[in-house]
Amino acid sequence: MLDLWYKNAVIYCIDVETFMDGNNDGIGDFEGLISRLDYIAGLGINCIWLMPFYPTPNRDNGYDITDYYSVDPRLGSLGDFAEFIRQASDRGIRVIVDLVINHTSIDHPWFQAACKDKNSKYKNFYVWSKEKPADAEDGIVFPGYQDSTWTYNEEAGEYYFHRFFKYQADLNVGNPEVWEELYKVMGFWLELGISGFRVDAVPFLIELKGIEARTDVDDPYDYLRQMRDFLSWRRGDAIILAEANVSMDIIPKYFGDGDKMQLLFGFLVNQYLMLAIAREEAEPLAKGLKALPEIPAIGQWANFIRNHDELSLDKLSDQEQDEILQKFHQNKDEVWIYDRGLRRRFPPLVDGDRRRVQLAYSLMFTLPGTPVLNSGEEIGMGDDLSLEQRAASRTPMQWSAAANGGFSKAPASDLIRPVISDGKYGYPEVNVIGQRQDPNSLLNWMERAIRMRKECPEIGWGDWEQIETDNPSVFAHRCCWRGGEFVAVHNFSKEACSVCLRLDSRSEQKQWFDLLADRAYEPIAAPDTKIDLESYGYRWFRVGGERL
Ligand code: NOJ
Repeated sequence: MLDLWYKNAVIYCIDVETFMDGNNDGIGDFEGLISRLDYIAGLGINCIWLMPFYPTPNRDNGYDITDYYSVDPRLGSLGDFAEFIRQASDRGIRVIVDLVINHTSIDHPWFQAACKDKNSKYKNFYVWSKEKPADAEDGIVFPGYQDSTWTYNEEAGEYYFHRFFKYQADLNVGNPEVWEELYKVMGFWLELGISGFRVDAVPFLIELKGIEARTDVDDPYDYLRQMRDFLSWRRGDAIILAEANVSMDIIPKYFGDGDKMQLLFGFLVNQYLMLAIAREEAEPLAKGLKALPEIPAIGQWANFIRNHDELSLDKLSDQEQDEILQKFHQNKDEVWIYDRGLRRRFPPLVDGDRRRVQLAYSLMFTLPGTPVLNSGEEIGMGDDLSLEQRAASRTPMQWSAAANGGFSKAPASDLIRPVISDGKYGYPEVNVIGQRQDPNSLLNWMERAIRMRKECPEIGWGDWEQIETDNPSVFAHRCCWRGGEFVAVHNFSKEACSVCLRLDSRSEQKQWFDLLADRAYEPIAAPDTKIDLESYGYRWFRVGGERL
């Protein structure tokens, strides 16, 4: 039987090196992470996504791997990893891990062997050219920080292709031997008890640029089906969460008929949601949702507010991007990166306004899809713009008001990255312990929202539709599943309002129960009652039915 557990999971993304330092050397590790599993379980998380934790020179935050079968010694050992899986599973938490197979580090033994000996089988593991291709400056992913997609290697006497930074050489997916190795890697981690993978850079992984003679598949999207087959044969309930920020006409090729990727990040909706928040209007969100293609029954969107990268606005027009910068009062020179996005965490974009922060996360939890929280979001962490590029929003977790925010007992100068210590986002102000003691904290709100999201399977499993309203600032939608009906209403405006929903008789005849809201409201008494909403307010309802 198909197990669609991921449709009602709440996923929590962790970078081990900045989460919790167990041995006090200044770097987060598995020992520290294990010590925080009760916290994660208490928050209501039931799936952890671990960012790369493999041996790495760490030039791209671990997305440059030198050994696929091991744990970075700075973070612990394979034994620690296995213990982490056991302890997570004891608490009912599944684990998925980052699978970075579009490229390896140039320090990976495969690349080293390829450069040393042109007769080595590893030469054909990468993509080479004797001359620098004419389009070497096209398709750069990190403009401003990356000059080319082809770099000369002295030892090999040829240029190698790298979609990302020059220290990340692309693997040759046209070579079946590469896939044999990659399947071994997947098989290895599956044997250690994980529930699947977050697959990095999928569009580039299956790209055939620079690859000439290929014999194994006719259509590159077949690689996705093959990966999925392998995954499901090894472990029936395992999933692939794919990173694929591609246009909507291509998305169906990633889901297939339910035979390819199960989850895709909702990049488009994320961007239109930002525009809706900036404009204080519901229409951009409705537009983003309307643009989504139909997806197969087992497919799912992974919804997020902020991930560990830049907040990409690449699908919006230049004017819309500028409008967001302007309405969020941001200085473009400081925050804009790679010609497409913002390197800030979310709360600083809305000046720490709790109402707008909750509005955004309330939408993340209720829009069709599975919510993905990045660690630190649950307490509303800020950023450090003095740090380079995306490091600005990758600062260590703020656990308490103790030195280094309780992240590590090492001297501050030894920390993997500075903890935010000053201002309204500094650890004395924003930390887990402080928020745990405050019943009105964002952390306690997140716990309640997560609990309620898990009590509403209509959202993850059901069909959904937008409900028309008489107020352009209000977005309302309904999710239905097996006779259950869930309705959420969100007010993007600073103006409080009383809104009328254009309901059909289905919902009108039933009783409405409040599930979660920004404050206590009068219960909805009659079907034609207007719904009151505070400034940036939101309300979740269960409409009729047998469920609580
Ligand atoms: C996407 C990851 O999220 C990002 O952090 C990384 O730099 C690139 N892929 C390259 O691996």
